[in-house]
Amino acid sequence: MVEQNEYAKIIIKGNEYEFPLIVGSEDEISIDFRKFRSTTNNIITYDPGYGNTGSCISNITFIDGEKGILRYRGYPIEQLAENSTFEEVCYLLIYGELPSKSEFQKFKSTLNYHDLIHEDMKKFFEGFPPNAHPMAVLSTMISSLSTYYPYNGDDQLDLQIIRLLAKVNTLAAFAYKKSIGQPYIYPRNDLSYIGDFLHMMFAVPSEPYHVNPVVERVLDKLLILHADHEQNCSASTVRMVGSSQGGIYSAIAAGVSALWGPLHGGANQAVIEMLKMIQKDNNDVDKYVKKAKDKNSSFRLMGFGHRVYKNFDPRATILKKAAEEVLNELGIQDPLLDIAQKLENVALSDEYFIDRKLYPNVDFYSGIIYRALGIPENMFTVMFSIGRLPGWIAQWKESRMDPDFKIHRPRQIYNGPNIRNYIPVSDRI
Ligand code: ACO
Repeated sequence: MVEQNEYAKIIIKGNEYEFPLIVGSEDEISIDFRKFRSTTNNIITYDPGYGNTGSCISNITFIDGEKGILRYRGYPIEQLAENSTFEEVCYLLIYGELPSKSEFQKFKSTLNYHDLIHEDMKKFFEGFPPNAHPMAVLSTMISSLSTYYPYNGDDQLDLQIIRLLAKVNTLAAFAYKKSIGQPYIYPRNDLSYIGDFLHMMFAVPSEPYHVNPVVERVLDKLLILHADHEQNCSASTVRMVGSSQGGIYSAIAAGVSALWGPLHGGANQAVIEMLKMIQKDNNDVDKYVKKAKDKNSSFRLMGFGHRVYKNFDPRATILKKAAEEVLNELGIQDPLLDIAQKLENVALSDEYFIDRKLYPNVDFYSGIIYRALGIPENMFTVMFSIGRLPGWIAQWKESRMDPDFKIHRPRQIYNGPNIRNYIPVSDRI
């Protein structure tokens, strides 16, 4: 961050105020409003949805929505997706640099060491109804980690982080096993992070399970693409909850809940549901494009549009190619891929979508890949959570280490009734 000797001038009711500009390392300019309210005698800014508000200064992820750029700690997403692994990206996001060989070895073996969950935690899974959504189960189980591994202050930060990364895989796979009535499969330390997850999801005690390297590699890529996305709804939730200085587990559990909604991570499940609906309706893509444009309908094309990307989502570009490749390699023909491609073509040539800069986002093709890997629909957003976990941890940690750390407490413009006197219920009509 560079603070320039340049100022923004604001005139309010005839009074002129000056506020310094802050320029980020990619030349993004912002106005420093930290002293705005105190300088202007209690005037505040109004920005519902925070589309114009920088809530922090961050070194983690850079996005240029106009140019379709996404970088973690300076590394382009395309290079990481092609050459790195999810475990390495976890390290990069959380500790700020790519690990040396020995650091990486140590990181991986520590993750392995902590991947078992307390045996008593299995009893929780027994208590959930069989059709419980795995996102609800995941959020609850992450929250319950604070009862088994209490937060003992920031000196235990690294241990808490490792525990989270290591155990969330196990918790997610156990949630799935519970939902289909199969026995839990314990983690295996000879497998990679992703390989172990696949084994816990798909192995059964009665036969050997071999991790398919094609499946392992594409899942690795998917999780890398989901690993962070700066101040999105769930990351901001993690920062917000963390700002009261509660433990990391409660903040991450809140992040999982925020991600679940269909306007955020829940969109990957919603995309597949939409594609199936179109398939059932004689593959009538045009009908659904028309419906999405109809102002009297609340229907939206799921997997289209993004608050930040206004030209293309670089993750969607990588995933479109990956979806075609993985279906080819696994010899799967999915009619939903054809519908998705047709929908994309129709929408991208339609004025409504062009004018509003609505393009496929990361969720548009991820569901097709998850289906090909045999991951059930209600686990899609759980997969997103596993991918986003290092990002949430990095955001939480950065916020906690911030010298300007403050509890998050926005203001409001009150527009309700003015003062009025209470009338006892016996005197009311
Ligand atoms: N289908 C049809 N119209 C849309 C869509 C869509 N998917 N998305 C936006 N629009 C229209 C809106 O109706 C609005 O039209 P108007 O200007 O005529 O009123 C205009 O485009 C702008 O939309 P906003 O909702 O204001 O855009 P915002 O930036 O607030 O929302 C969002 C972004 C939530 C992602 C939105 O595009 C959407 O609902 N998409 C579908 C859900 C989805 O795919 N979510 C996943 C996002 S990626 C992620 O979280 C990982």
